[in-house]
Amino acid sequence: MPSVLITGASKGFGRELFKVFLERGWTVFPVVRDPFIADDLKAVAWTAGYPIVADVTSPDAGNRIAKVLQARTRSLDLLVNNAGSIKKLRRLPNVTPEDLEELFRVHCVGAFRCTLAALPFLRRAERPIVANITSRKGSIGLTVAGEGGDVYSYKIAKCAQNMLTACLDQELRAEGIRVFAVHPGRLMTDVAPADADTLPRDAAIRFADWVDSVDREAPCGIHDPVAGGLIEW
Ligand SMILES: NC(=O)c1ccc[n+]([C@@H]2O[C@H](COP(=O)([O-])OP(=O)(O)OC[C@H]3O[C@@H](n4cnc5c(N)ncnc54)[C@H](OP(=O)(O)O)[C@@H]3O)[C@@H](O)[C@H]2O)c1
Repeated sequence: MPSVLITGASKGFGRELFKVFLERGWTVFPVVRDPFIADDLKAVAWTAGYPIVADVTSPDAGNRIAKVLQARTRSLDLLVNNAGSIKKLRRLPNVTPEDLEELFRVHCVGAFRCTLAALPFLRRAERPIVANITSRKGSIGLTVAGEGGDVYSYKIAKCAQNMLTACLDQELRAEGIRVFAVHPGRLMTDVAPADADTLPRDAAIRFADWVDSVDREAPCGIHDPVAGGLIEW
């Protein structure tokens, strides 16, 4: 049975990923911050789901993840670094250095921390994948071309995460681990952009299909399973 660890599985896209991978027979390790939500997920998942309570910005998140993986599996086929938050209506003069630090810790450092914790288990899988959930908002190319949004700290954090994806993919590819950046679509979730047009469940299904069929020789990003193709970095 293949296995997947999904951060940010309490709601939105991550919650739908949790459901879709369970429906497809995967063993799922959802990472959530709230212990009560972890209990809910356990009740739904029975023997195929092992919730982990962790905040990806906390130094102990890596240990919490590694402990549960160690107890439940030898290998991990897929890591989805999905946990994320946004600060809207923040551009000059309102954006602060603290905004930048906070979102960098979630989107970039958090993804790195979870990847380090999962790495020994990914190394034992046959065709392991790390999918870092990014955003078109993190694209320098699209920003230069005029893609806006009052979300400085979000755009900068996702851009940094994209560089993390490229660095990790370059290094881990030789071991057979592929690391991809994935834009999940314009989703109707709590952080929905003004032009949101996709149900998180539909996006989760497209993402799972993309995982099933991904060309392991493909460039590392930014993949767009909903619209198809790649977005400029
Ligand atoms: N919505 C879109 O159109 C869109 C577009 C492009 C990219 N994305 C990306 O897609 C991912 C999922 O977004 P979404 O739309 O599903 O948003 P969402 O509904 O707000 O879900 C975000 C998830 O991340 C979790 N999270 C936030 N900070 C965390 C932390 N420090 N540690 C652990 N978990 C944390 C939240 O947990 P809590 O419940 O504890 O807060 C929640 O489970 C994000 O990375 C987002 O940037 C979304």
